[in-house]
Amino acid sequence: MKLHGTMTVNSRGHLEIGGCDTVELASTFGTPLYVVDEELFRQNCREYYRAFTEKYGAEVIYAAKTLLTLAICRLVDEEGLGMDVVSGGELYTAIKARFPMSRVYFHGNNKSSEELRLALEARVGRFMVDNFYELEMLNRLAGEMRTRADVILRLTPGVEAHTHEYIKTGQIDSKFGLVIDNGQALAGVRRALEMENIILHGLHCHIGSQIFELDSYAHAAGIMMDFAARVARETGWAPAELDLGGGLGIYYTEGDEPRPVAEYADVIMRAVREKALAHGLPVPRVIVEPGRSISGPAGTTLYTVGAVKDIPGVRKYVAVDGGMGDNPRPALYQSRYEACLANKAAAPAEEVVSIAGKCCESGDMLIWDIALPRVEPGDILAVSCTGAYNYSMSMNYNRLPRPAMVLVRDGQADIIVERETYEDLLRNDVIPERLRRSRRLNVASAR
Ligand SMILES: Cc1ncc(COP(=O)(O)O)c(C=O)c1O
Repeated sequence: MKLHGTMTVNSRGHLEIGGCDTVELASTFGTPLYVVDEELFRQNCREYYRAFTEKYGAEVIYAAKTLLTLAICRLVDEEGLGMDVVSGGELYTAIKARFPMSRVYFHGNNKSSEELRLALEARVGRFMVDNFYELEMLNRLAGEMRTRADVILRLTPGVEAHTHEYIKTGQIDSKFGLVIDNGQALAGVRRALEMENIILHGLHCHIGSQIFELDSYAHAAGIMMDFAARVARETGWAPAELDLGGGLGIYYTEGDEPRPVAEYADVIMRAVREKALAHGLPVPRVIVEPGRSISGPAGTTLYTVGAVKDIPGVRKYVAVDGGMGDNPRPALYQSRYEACLANKAAAPAEEVVSIAGKCCESGDMLIWDIALPRVEPGDILAVSCTGAYNYSMSMNYNRLPRPAMVLVRDGQADIIVERETYEDLLRNDVIPERLRRSRRLNVASAR
């Protein structure tokens, strides 16, 4: 397994993160356990801040959908980034963490009137409007609340990024945004400009996730700027802001070759500036929305090995105490991960095994065919790069409680999410009175 951030192997042959022995973390906090490397999370924020904000005056907004807790909000705020939220729940988390609302960008393709009201009340920085329905509703609600909404319109530029079907979003046949090619985007701009309670600031696109080809970004930026020029010609309005989404790919397994953030920034900014010059437009304030490339490598999940089942000549299954409940990505996207035995991190690989989760689904396999030292029940398996889209996508299938999360730094480990309990699982369950009664009646009539 490739070591990320502050990971090292200590003198006991154990994997260490943030100066904490992960075997001790597992015994103190239990497993499965999400471990977040604070130093690496902050470093990733800083890399973006330097490459985009310091160098170009661009704005970096962290995509909260990848990993969001109250403590994570604090880290993002301290590092000076903005935040992209996509639901009332994410917004509420930011509000409760006292994240500066002016730096919150509110995404989502089907925001409810309650969510829009909450965001208007909180005075979020920008509404990223996805469709006509939302635009009309936002204009109406803002009017009712005697305020105005600051808006960026989400468009689909028709760029097909090379990534998994479910995580590419910029193509025309997408549930997100107004299509440029068929005139919807221009109609959306015109409509927004004539609305009394909408202030249109800019345009947005997001072409997908886990992208390694920087050319795709230059291409999308070019299409957006060409569209901006057309809009300027036809309406006299030019976007002051251009949000090019997130999506930079990260290392999960061999073959993934992430591009440096600085290069990504240079490619985007060059494309935007060249097009602005060519069209005689002012250079808009550029915004990017990285998620995975900030939180992904900073997360590691620890599991305890349980049943080991060898089917001679076929495969050796190693089952862990978590799986698709805490990390649905392999089941959803066939995503691949690397792992090591945290308690045997210095030992050489001896066998090839497959890591199974504990859900009642054949598809609940975390890793197929991984070379590890001899695996025994009780070993601690560490799966790397689980910081993004793991906890945030986690679920209670099979009524498995969600794991705890610890933030580690300089030898200190702090709980930032408590482990769910069985009581938590029942918190919203209700037995209606008639069912309580009917059970007694049924028993009585059977007698
Ligand atoms: C609109 C938007 N912005 C930003 C992101 C973050 O992408 P990533 O985590 O790949 O950087 C996403 C993810 O799907 C998104 O839909």
